[in-house]
Amino acid sequence: MEAKEIYDGHADLWVRSEPILLSDYSARPRVLELCGDVQGQTILDLGCGEGYVGRELAKRGAAAISGYDVSAGMIAGAQKSALALGLKHLTYAVSDLRKAGFGDPSQPVDLVIAVFLFNYMDAAAMERILNRVRQVLKPGGRFIFTVPHPLLPYIKPAEKPFYMRPEGGYLSSVDVPFPGRIWRRDGESVEVQAVHKTFTTYFNALNAAGFTRMPHVEELHITADHVALDPDFFGPLADLPLHVAFSLKS
Ligand SMILES: C[S@@+](CC[C@H](N)C(=O)[O-])C[C@H]1O[C@@H](n2cnc3c(N)ncnc32)[C@H](O)[C@@H]1O
Repeated sequence: MEAKEIYDGHADLWVRSEPILLSDYSARPRVLELCGDVQGQTILDLGCGEGYVGRELAKRGAAAISGYDVSAGMIAGAQKSALALGLKHLTYAVSDLRKAGFGDPSQPVDLVIAVFLFNYMDAAAMERILNRVRQVLKPGGRFIFTVPHPLLPYIKPAEKPFYMRPEGGYLSSVDVPFPGRIWRRDGESVEVQAVHKTFTTYFNALNAAGFTRMPHVEELHITADHVALDPDFFGPLADLPLHVAFSLKS
């Protein structure tokens, strides 16, 4: 299924002003830590969704954030939240990043983020976007992205609070969409998708796009504090790699 259909179908369930989805605990806080001091920085948020991460970066002093998303429903949510909070330096556009450019190489930015975007496209589309990221980043600018952990579908049963169901083998299924679901702590859940890639896919695509320095890579997981907070919700995920964060410098 196309990402636009998935997200237009349940954009309201993504709207949030505080952590509620599993990945608001297991991934986004670490993304924000990796972003570090963003005071005065210009940022592109690729696959911004309803703008949760961008609003957090705005709270931390970012100067301007441009968000792009293929789902008009998600962009409408982002615009509504930014308007309600009076955040005029957050701007949004509906755009299919597999086909359209983004940013302006004549006005390069400090930071580009893509939080769970690449799991909605094949490796070739990801590589085109990585090339563009290099063009729109300032020298020394940073690029941070997260994806579902490529092994998770193979080591975690299709049960709550998060799963991706494999549709073929680990090595032979690159570019095959795996259906998945992620839960919120209030019991609601949303459909997600992982167009499968291996670690080799990511490293080769980064290298082909000219990111030739060693990236900083983290396998993200829940912590003992998460389990203590809500044992029923987080407990089944103990000791599993859920997502991967990559942090690079141009
Ligand atoms: C899992 S959501 C994450 C949203 C946001 N980054 C966050 O962390 O809350 C993935 C987002 O990627 C968007 N997306 C998927 N494919 C896209 C594409 N080709 N172009 C632009 N956005 C896309 C979806 O519409 C969705 O909003």
